[in-house]
Amino acid sequence: MPRILITSALPYINGIKHLGNLAGSMLPADVYARFQRARGHETLYICATDEHGTPAELAAAEAGQDIGEYCEAQHRIQYEIGRRFGLSWDHFGRSSSPQNHRLTQSFAQSLWEAGFIEERVTQQVFSLDDRRFLPDRYVIGTCPYCGYEAARGDQCENCTRVLDPADLIQPRSAISGSTQIEIRDSKHLFLRQSLFAPKLRDWIDSKNRDWPNLVTSIAYKWLDEGLQDRGITRDLSWGVPVNAMDWGPDPEGRLPDVAGLADKVFYVWFDAPIEYIAATWEWSDARALEIGRTPDDGDWERWWREPAAADVTYVEFMGKDNVPFHTVGFPCTLFGINERLGPDGRWSRRENAPWKLVDALKGFNWLNYYGGKFSTSQHRGVFMDTALEILPADYWRWWLTANSPESADSSFTWEQFRDQVNADLADVLGNFVNRICKFTENRFDGQVPAGGEPGPLEQRLAADVAAKLAELTGYLEEREFRKSTTALRQLWVLGNQYLTEAAPWTAIKSDRDRAAVAVRAGLDLVALFAKLSEPFIPFAAETIARAVGEPYPARWPQPGQVLGTLPAGRKVAAPEVLFRKLEDAQIAEWTARFGGAELEPA
Ligand code: 2FM
Ligand code: ZN
Repeated sequence: MPRILITSALPYINGIKHLGNLAGSMLPADVYARFQRARGHETLYICATDEHGTPAELAAAEAGQDIGEYCEAQHRIQYEIGRRFGLSWDHFGRSSSPQNHRLTQSFAQSLWEAGFIEERVTQQVFSLDDRRFLPDRYVIGTCPYCGYEAARGDQCENCTRVLDPADLIQPRSAISGSTQIEIRDSKHLFLRQSLFAPKLRDWIDSKNRDWPNLVTSIAYKWLDEGLQDRGITRDLSWGVPVNAMDWGPDPEGRLPDVAGLADKVFYVWFDAPIEYIAATWEWSDARALEIGRTPDDGDWERWWREPAAADVTYVEFMGKDNVPFHTVGFPCTLFGINERLGPDGRWSRRENAPWKLVDALKGFNWLNYYGGKFSTSQHRGVFMDTALEILPADYWRWWLTANSPESADSSFTWEQFRDQVNADLADVLGNFVNRICKFTENRFDGQVPAGGEPGPLEQRLAADVAAKLAELTGYLEEREFRKSTTALRQLWVLGNQYLTEAAPWTAIKSDRDRAAVAVRAGLDLVALFAKLSEPFIPFAAETIARAVGEPYPARWPQPGQVLGTLPAGRKVAAPEVLFRKLEDAQIAEWTARFGGAELEPA
């Protein structure tokens, strides 16, 4: 059985995430992690806050806080909210951790000594009014490719081209708006990505059949445009310092300019993916403390380094804007550490224990809010904290998974949210569980009844349920989230149809055994639905499992294990209302509070 390593894109530290962030990385990763654990796979779901970069610095300044304190507080907040959403991280780390500092620095050293990093003097934008270098995204100007006037220095939002701030026409400071900016020389490290182009293309080709088209098409677009060497350091004070003192010579005998690199930190996109590994190290250290083992005993490496990790399947989840960094940037880093490039252009293994690259990459399109973007800066849409103020996590989890922006962008609207939550959760699942449990309480003393033999109706039910269960399992294996919610909903519907046909409330008047058979089958389905719903709506699933005295969380069932699972005599107690229907008045209130159809772009 493979072990399953799962990472979801690391949320930026600056502020609570909106539902679009949740839907496009952390939530599907959680559904998948819960499913794999239920299947019995040893599973590790790692996430962390992405704490470096200018947005963090600026947010701390705006909050009037020291950056370190700011990050610590925000990390805690994001951790708590994630937990309340049921995100079952094995570890929620921090990219500012000592482990990430060490790993990032040692990766860079290794890349330098292998000749994959070189120094260049670059021209950086210096803002006289802000008295600082302006990092990429804090320079705004006109895109040289498409003419978009508010392009950021790192990427044009309009045409998605990756930019250098120096490319921008009429640049200005995003901090102060000042155009009093000048270009100054600054020494920086560049990762020589261009050397990796053929290797990366082979690697992407090898994944082409398995990875979603969304992902490979983005990777190919980058490769086709020609891989550029990428600056991996910045003139900032907050981040992982370059610290090149101990670096040995590169293959041409050059040593790094230690003084020239003294005030530099690594670019946030260099250290953030390394934090996937470092957070696993944090996890391992934290666990070691818990069980009285020596920290840093290398246990984490068995998830990340061959050959120990040969049985690990590594799956990444992210929004489409993150795909280039995970199909190009991070793989270059790892290839450069794992392998050497000979003068004949051939690659060969460099180390005995190479680092693991991603096996499956699930990318998502955007979840929009009424056809427009969710926006952190404009506070547009619903955020994780306010979402939980108004409704329990499962309502959101269900809707966001059922409307996962997999094949195209999707949109949240309050009306659709109401309709789907009411139909699926209240009318179908909630109603089913309630009907059968209440009836058991009223007519069978609150116990799974004995007596009678299953007949053709039950045989058909078992066959239909087994087929749907196989379908659901297949979709989850394939990480097809929308389809998996459809299959699960159809299973719930089968339960309701069965009860309507078997009608134990009628049978009981003349044939108690017949009613007992139907009630047993119904209660078996309740137990089954608890297991199958757990990855999607874990809180309700627990309530449902408890109603029929089942363990939670439970193992994922085999298609043959659908009926006849609950022992006669088992206590049954109908749960409190599982899902309250959303009322029009609530929808009106929330639409007024968060905005609605008037936000649709014209
Ligand atoms: O786009 C983002 O939200 C980034 N913070 C994702 C980083 S993923 C990774 F590489 F760490
Ligand atoms: Zn553009």
